[in-house]
Amino acid sequence: MCGIVGYIGVEQAAPILLDGLGKLEYRGYDSAGMSVFDGEKIQMVKAKGRLKVLEELTHGGKTLKGTVGIGHTRWATHGEPSDKNSHPHFNEKGTISVVHNGIIENYIPLKKKLEAKGYSFTSDTDTEVIAHLLDYYDRGNPLETITKVMHRMEGSYALGILFSHYPEEIFAVRKDSPLIVGENSKGCFIASDVPAVLKYTRQVYFMNNEEVVRLGRDYMHFYTVDEEELTKEAVTIHWDADAAEKGGYEHFMLKEMYEQPKAIKDTLGPRIKEDEIVIEELHMSREEIKAIKRLHMVACGSAYHAGMTAKYIFEGMARMPVNVDLASEFRYRNPILEKGDLVIVISQSGETADTLAALREAKERGIVTLGIVNVVGSSIAREADKVMYTWAGPEISVATTKAYSAQLMALYLLAAYFAHERGSLQEDQIASLIQELKMLPDQVEVLLANKEKIQKFANRYIGAKDIFFMGRGIDYAISMEGSLKLKEISYIHSEAYAAGELKHGTISLVEEGTLVAAVLTQENLYKKMFSNIVEVKTRGAFVLAVTNEENKDIEKVADYVLYIPKTNPYLTNSLAIIPLQLFGYYVALGKGCDVDKPRNLAKSVTVE
Ligand code: F6R
Repeated sequence: MCGIVGYIGVEQAAPILLDGLGKLEYRGYDSAGMSVFDGEKIQMVKAKGRLKVLEELTHGGKTLKGTVGIGHTRWATHGEPSDKNSHPHFNEKGTISVVHNGIIENYIPLKKKLEAKGYSFTSDTDTEVIAHLLDYYDRGNPLETITKVMHRMEGSYALGILFSHYPEEIFAVRKDSPLIVGENSKGCFIASDVPAVLKYTRQVYFMNNEEVVRLGRDYMHFYTVDEEELTKEAVTIHWDADAAEKGGYEHFMLKEMYEQPKAIKDTLGPRIKEDEIVIEELHMSREEIKAIKRLHMVACGSAYHAGMTAKYIFEGMARMPVNVDLASEFRYRNPILEKGDLVIVISQSGETADTLAALREAKERGIVTLGIVNVVGSSIAREADKVMYTWAGPEISVATTKAYSAQLMALYLLAAYFAHERGSLQEDQIASLIQELKMLPDQVEVLLANKEKIQKFANRYIGAKDIFFMGRGIDYAISMEGSLKLKEISYIHSEAYAAGELKHGTISLVEEGTLVAAVLTQENLYKKMFSNIVEVKTRGAFVLAVTNEENKDIEKVADYVLYIPKTNPYLTNSLAIIPLQLFGYYVALGKGCDVDKPRNLAKSVTVE
């Protein structure tokens, strides 16, 4: 989704804006632009395409003079990707410049009203309405102008605004789209996400909904939508700035796959105390945990797949009933939620619009909510009743890997903790589970070391049209994630099926040479999966099997086998996903795809 940056200080703004926009590239975009106040008027440069175009147009920002500016990477929603639809947008006089992340839902009636008053539009965007509205309400007091406009807009927005008659200030606003503010001794910053400012500051303020900030070179004042001044506390960010750099890897995705052992370890470590699982941040007594009637896992994309895995684990280990819902369905379905239910929302970014809306829906209905979130201080982290962080560090690649693995770890811990408190797992079972959890980082490391073998295999499939994944039970959940990893970055059509469903329709799609990736890590389902493999082989499929290292007889039926080390059957997804991620990555690489920034996708889906 769109990325916003802003800087006011003693340094030249444009190079800082370009640098910040570079850190937000992962969010996905199709055009970029900047506005800088040059001492007399607001200068603007914007262009369709990659940031490189903007860098070339401005010689790395050098030709855009001035120390106050805003910048933007656009992910098109209203109006095709083009120069004219790129941000910033202006009022007609060129005295007000705006960058926007979000969607103004009532922009059509607003546009009609403005047109009736004589305003003319040069783009197809909803954002241009904001620039003209600001102009319409401008009576010389920017704070009053902005809050008036906020009262008239419906939808989601994070805005960065320059007024040429207030050249010593930047204004920014947030409603339902993320925005942070930072400061150091040389100026103040705004950004859609922390990595954009990490190089400059660790002191960050998270804007809440309907808040406005007014930034000078050495001050920042926060206000409510009613113009009342607010006091906000800075949060210190501990992420390593290098974590948001590629560090010698060809892609962020590869680097982040290699960071998985650490992400898993960091998520596990703080929750193991003297060989016991302790999740202090839950603030729940044993009685409260015992009183939970039902769990709802609500999320989108890969986080939803983590929720799918969790269903098998919570039901198996803790004997708790679990619903798993796509957040976009949950929020509009009028789900049955009852006292005693716990809604667990899972999100890397903590800003996904549907997941956030689902969380709010649950809260409105008086249901206790728990967020499993990676980004500290994100909207979900702040709004959920309870938060359990996944300590994966910043994830830049659009396709999630390490955050997903950290989500699995958080969910294992939670399930084991609930199982212990509810008495469905005994001390000795928990003790051996903890040992197995502790082994996972090293086991993942071993699997990652196998990358060359997987690359060779992947190279044979760069021309594939369809690839199917199948598994049963928990292996079905990982098949879904393996399939998503492959399709989103390689653009090869792929589906995941519960293997038992094959005969109910899907098997008709299997023909000579079709690749079927079969995951079979569950001993109780092994024979069934074995038969399913034979069935697709009979129809000409080429079978890649991912299974436990002791299942050597699989070589009788599968064409290619990737083994995973022995672990607890509940934890196998953490291992099986590694070869599948590598497979997706190397197929995409072989095809020459833009692995970190797949077409049409955004890292943080902050609009519906
Ligand atoms: C796929 C992927 C997406 C996200 C989904 C939810 O690789 O990354 O499917 O998992 O958009 O995002 P978060 O976890 O930020 O809520």
